[in-house]
Amino acid sequence: MEFVRLLLVFLHLLGMGMLVAMFFLQLRAGAGAPLNKGWLHGSGLQLLTGLALVGLAPLTDKDYDHFKVGVKLLVLVVIGVLAFAYVRKPAAPTWLPRALAGLVVLNVGVAVFWT
Ligand code: HEM
Repeated sequence: MEFVRLLLVFLHLLGMGMLVAMFFLQLRAGAGAPLNKGWLHGSGLQLLTGLALVGLAPLTDKDYDHFKVGVKLLVLVVIGVLAFAYVRKPAAPTWLPRALAGLVVLNVGVAVFWT
């Protein structure tokens, strides 16, 4: 089971990297470009791996802080709702990539500093 947890953490960290990469891809695409679908894929991966880590906690002998996990989930829902709302629009508003990246960084901060 420890291997499964490590695999999920591995995918969770790759998902975080993907979201950070989306920010730079979005910057490179420039103003007026549509929102990259990768924002949705990255946040979906974070959701699935995060929920799986919490769901498997009794089997992996982990005792996660549910309040902390709830805050991370809430921040991710905001990311997902924003990405979903704008992904089909012809152009992403200029504030959106910065807002999404800020929320991703916020969740990294919550993950690391909330002990
Ligand atoms: C943008 C969204 C997210 C980012 C950037 C993110 C980032 C991270 C990072 C960097 C860690 C490693 C922290 C460390 O080992 O000290 C982590 C761990 C974790 N995350 Fe997330 N996370 C996100 C969303 C979520 C969500 C939505 C959940 C749950 C529903 C979640 C559940 C967890 C859990 C349970 C761990 C601990 C894994 C372990 O060490 O066993 N995360 N996250």
